[in-house]
Amino acid sequence: MGRYAVRPSGPLCGRVRVAGATKNSGTKQMAAALLAPGVTTLRNMPRVRDLDVMAELMTALGAHVELVGTDEVRVDASGALVPEAPYELVSRIRASFNVLGPLLARCGHARVALPGGDNIGSRKVDMHLRGLAALGAEVGVEHGFVVARASRLVGTRLVLDFPSVGATENLMCAAVLARGTTVIENAAREPEVTDLAAFLDRMGGRVVGAGTSTIEIEGVDALVAAESEIMADRVEAGTLLMACGMAGGEIELVGTRFEHLELVAMKLCEMGMRVSATPDGMWAQAQGPLRAVDIATLPHPGFATDFMPIAVAMMSVAQGSAIVTENVYDGRFQFVDELRRMGADIHTEGRHAVVRGVERLSGAPVVASDVRAGAALVLAGLVAEGETVVYGTEHVERGYADLPGVLSALGADVERID
Ligand code: EPU
Repeated sequence: MGRYAVRPSGPLCGRVRVAGATKNSGTKQMAAALLAPGVTTLRNMPRVRDLDVMAELMTALGAHVELVGTDEVRVDASGALVPEAPYELVSRIRASFNVLGPLLARCGHARVALPGGDNIGSRKVDMHLRGLAALGAEVGVEHGFVVARASRLVGTRLVLDFPSVGATENLMCAAVLARGTTVIENAAREPEVTDLAAFLDRMGGRVVGAGTSTIEIEGVDALVAAESEIMADRVEAGTLLMACGMAGGEIELVGTRFEHLELVAMKLCEMGMRVSATPDGMWAQAQGPLRAVDIATLPHPGFATDFMPIAVAMMSVAQGSAIVTENVYDGRFQFVDELRRMGADIHTEGRHAVVRGVERLSGAPVVASDVRAGAALVLAGLVAEGETVVYGTEHVERGYADLPGVLSALGADVERID
């Protein structure tokens, strides 16, 4: 198990490029590559752990995956596919469930393990299954596997109970090869959905409205392999903005898009930071203490749940008290115990956390329970007295290509110890 040693850091300073969103966008486009024979090339895909698992899964499904250089992935889905996704791989990363729609659409049947819950709460797939059934598939669950069949899906109007990112993506990928038109109402509006829709369009699909809550997909008979440049990771960008807020300083982020982080920027400004768009990314400055502000997570364009643990770490050293409400997951406050071990004053009750800012945290050995919890603990370490050792770095590395590296480039004292 790797660990990070984090020591108190002075103000951050510098300009860094934000990595590509391999975990939350790139892996979905790998799954979508199954829709067409030929070689798909995905760029701006830095090596994170979830990429390795997705590559293993694609290989098990009969595709050929090649990792080229430091950030290119090629997927060749020309050969015969084996539409069966094993539990050992699906249980490890959520994005793997995104192979269900493409496999069903291309092969006419699919058997994909049910993913189950994880360290942030129960993570159901009922909307994925109801949507596929409405598109005409025969869908059942047998021995822990989703089994779906349809000689060809038929377009229809779908209304999601909740704007689920995964369900929107899976259904979009299934509908792209369906007969007729599919409309997804209450669709997720996350930028990763738009990134995937643009890729499907480049493959010859006809997807209109991604980024709004109504997506219309006109089915086509076949798709072709295409190329894609994966969007910058907005969660990494937000993590760096918040690191600047906690440690102070002035940073510039290249490659990220302000509109992906609008509400985060607004909240950080309310806390006393200055954040603005630049021609090629974002700029942020933090001078003096932060003020606590209330936060409630919501689907995009609301305050994303993936920033919540990091925001709690920020509030724990801000002036005043904040109420943080988690509306997306039912178990995402596990990390709070670790922050408490560093001296944070946090009380949780169901979906709410009351965070009372303290003068200073104290460095301690802590364990990351998931990717964003790990990032929150690293950032807490930047403003804690003494050394913080963050264990469970394999979680952090699922989504961040090199968090210690990018923070160090901005002047933070963070080191990976093997
Ligand atoms: N949900 C259902 N039924 C469904 C689908 C979802 O009840 O059929 C519920 C889930 O249980 C959850 C909520 O809806 O409580 C949100 O789930 P959603 O489907 O929107 O999320 P996801 O696609 O499983 C992706 C990201 C998450 C991110 C969420 C929300 C990937 C691989 N994961 O998950 O990323 O939190 O969208 O933005 O893209 C992270 O990066 O730390 C992370 C957890």
